[in-house]
Amino acid sequence: MAKIDVSEFIESNYKRNDFSHLHWTGSFQDYVNIVSEHPKVARNAFQRIHDMIFTFGIEKYSEYKKEITRYHFFSDPFEKGKDAIFGIDVHLMKLVNFFKSAAAGYGTEKRVLLLHGPVGSAKSSIARLMKKGLEHYSKTDDGALYTFEWVDEEESEILGGAKLFSSPMHEDPLKLVPTEVRAEFLTELNKGRADGERKIDIKGELNPACRYIFEQYMLKYDGDWNVMIKNHVRIKRLILSEKDRIGIGTFQPKDEKNQDSTELTGDINYRKIAKYGSDSDPRAFNFDGEFNIANRGIVEFIEMLKLDVAFLYDLLGASQEQSIKPKKFAQTHIDEVILGHTNEPEFRKLQNNEFMEALRDRTVKIDVPYITRLDQEVKIYQKDFNADKIPHVHIAPHTLEMGSLWAILTRMEEPKKSDLTKLQKLKLYNGKTLPGYSEDNVKELRKEAVREGLEGISPRYIQDKISNALVKNAHHGCLNPFMVFNELESGLKHHALINNTEMYDKYKEMLVVSRQEYEDIVKNDVQKAISVDENAIQTLCANYIDNVKAYIQKEKVRNKYSNRLEESDERFMRSIEEKIDIPESRKDDFRREIMNYIGALAIEGKQFDYRKNERLHRALELKLFEDQKDTIKLTTIISNVVDKATQEKIEVVKTRLIKNFAYCEICATDALNYVASIFAKGDSAKS
Ligand SMILES: Nc1ncnc2c1ncn2[C@@H]1O[C@H](COP(=O)(O)OP(=O)(O)OP(=O)(O)O)[C@@H](O)[C@H]1O
Ligand SMILES: [Mg+2]
Repeated sequence: MAKIDVSEFIESNYKRNDFSHLHWTGSFQDYVNIVSEHPKVARNAFQRIHDMIFTFGIEKYSEYKKEITRYHFFSDPFEKGKDAIFGIDVHLMKLVNFFKSAAAGYGTEKRVLLLHGPVGSAKSSIARLMKKGLEHYSKTDDGALYTFEWVDEEESEILGGAKLFSSPMHEDPLKLVPTEVRAEFLTELNKGRADGERKIDIKGELNPACRYIFEQYMLKYDGDWNVMIKNHVRIKRLILSEKDRIGIGTFQPKDEKNQDSTELTGDINYRKIAKYGSDSDPRAFNFDGEFNIANRGIVEFIEMLKLDVAFLYDLLGASQEQSIKPKKFAQTHIDEVILGHTNEPEFRKLQNNEFMEALRDRTVKIDVPYITRLDQEVKIYQKDFNADKIPHVHIAPHTLEMGSLWAILTRMEEPKKSDLTKLQKLKLYNGKTLPGYSEDNVKELRKEAVREGLEGISPRYIQDKISNALVKNAHHGCLNPFMVFNELESGLKHHALINNTEMYDKYKEMLVVSRQEYEDIVKNDVQKAISVDENAIQTLCANYIDNVKAYIQKEKVRNKYSNRLEESDERFMRSIEEKIDIPESRKDDFRREIMNYIGALAIEGKQFDYRKNERLHRALELKLFEDQKDTIKLTTIISNVVDKATQEKIEVVKTRLIKNFAYCEICATDALNYVASIFAKGDSAKS
């Protein structure tokens, strides 16, 4: 263990400068100077979140010919990707559009933002990310914001004998500008700002407590605002923090009968009533409901539709009017994003309720579905299950992928085209090409499946079962897909959300499909390790394409060695096609499809890559395997009597699995044994 000199470490790592920077205080005039120079400090909550999202930059890519924007903000730059959101960029774009429109004041700032989706679809993760983002942003120069506190050196009665009284809703100091002169003040402040530029605005009056104090001091100084501000107002930097209940609130409905508005809009402080003599003295009121404390930032409503309906109307009012009504006090302006989330079943339960109309009208609903792209789903599990976090157990190749594969299969709708299996559809979604399916076809497939991603197995179930499998098999030193499949299967019986046998059977059936797919994959790995270097396939592929081209165009092929023109080699082409069961009668179609595909790619200026054409890729591998497999007698592995020469070859294969395919000693041995046992059963090398 290394020794650490604490004071030296802190001195060089912890920036004291930052501390004083973040604890800056100043006069009202100082603040106005800051605002003139950096009008951003006076942004409203929607504008601030909007800008925060954009500070992390974007990246564009295209999917199904549509341009998609990925906002790096959603990769969680705050905690190294811990809450990164994958695979639902299209939906995140809608979320960002909400903020775009709200920041510009087009009306969505008066709506509740409702994230809607099945259990475990990242709704809370998105909310967490936004809160975390705000905390972080408020500490940067770019995201700085300010509030004020009342100061009274004489500890007069006005502050109840205290020296300090902070704005309980951490309001923008500009709200201290008397309403009568605000319009002119703003005109001055906004002078010189171009037409398209955001203008500074001051909305709403001070909260009741500050309003009261304001008036009392005005009385004291005979209406001299300048003296009041100079003597009693101090501006300070505002750091948003969920833990400190500043600018970030969360509300979770508990018991349906036990909902109380004070949790949202604050409560009478009974101890202070004695002091101030009246329960309508705003100083005897704690403005500490979630709506109050979330001012300037965001308030999250977990399971929003579980709220009592009367309450929900309050909430919808709060967004529509951007004001709340604390008990016994006037409407109080709020500046905050109201973010709710809800599950599918809850949403549906309310669908027949007339209240739904009102709700639909006042919310912007953003769907947060499950991921349906395999390579994206895998990333969820890689976050938690990787060598860094689990150093003592190796995770065999394809393990997380198989959990993801099954999860997505359970989320998929049966393709309407009968010749397509769910597994094939999954692969199409994942960017593989199948002959006969263009990008447009895949887009169609997605379109026809309206409920896709709204049901099925949640990532949380997969996470839990992978954890279980890890714990149970820690002694083995390596977690493989079989272990995960077993956990996934045994958990199904007790799964709370599987409530009919039809669903149960469907999920089981998808497990069979997944296991079969794994068998193919692991066989393929072993075959590759035995036979292949990529160059050999490449050559084989080029050779095949040359022959197909000649065949289709009724031309001759130039023999690379003799440089003479020859007939296309029918036996050679068939030896490849037979590997994937293409009958004689279909061979022309197959060859034509490939040529068309290559032609279409050429038009787009793209090169043909056999790896993208799954069937051809497989056929080529199998052909190569066949050409080479006799050099190693795989089935002898399980016969216990392995001669030295074979043993050496097996070691070579194992080493290749480890070096090229990320296997470890344990799973490489497992894989070889498994594949050997398949071959021993008389299975051919075909899939
Ligand atoms: N698209 C996704 N990208 C990254 N992680 C995801 C995604 N979908 C789900 N997850 C992961 O699944 C788990 C559950 O997510 P989360 O708690 O955010 O879901 P939720 O929608 O709030 O669920 P619930 O409706 O049960 O409250 C988390 O670990 C989260 O990281
Ligand atoms: Mg949640």
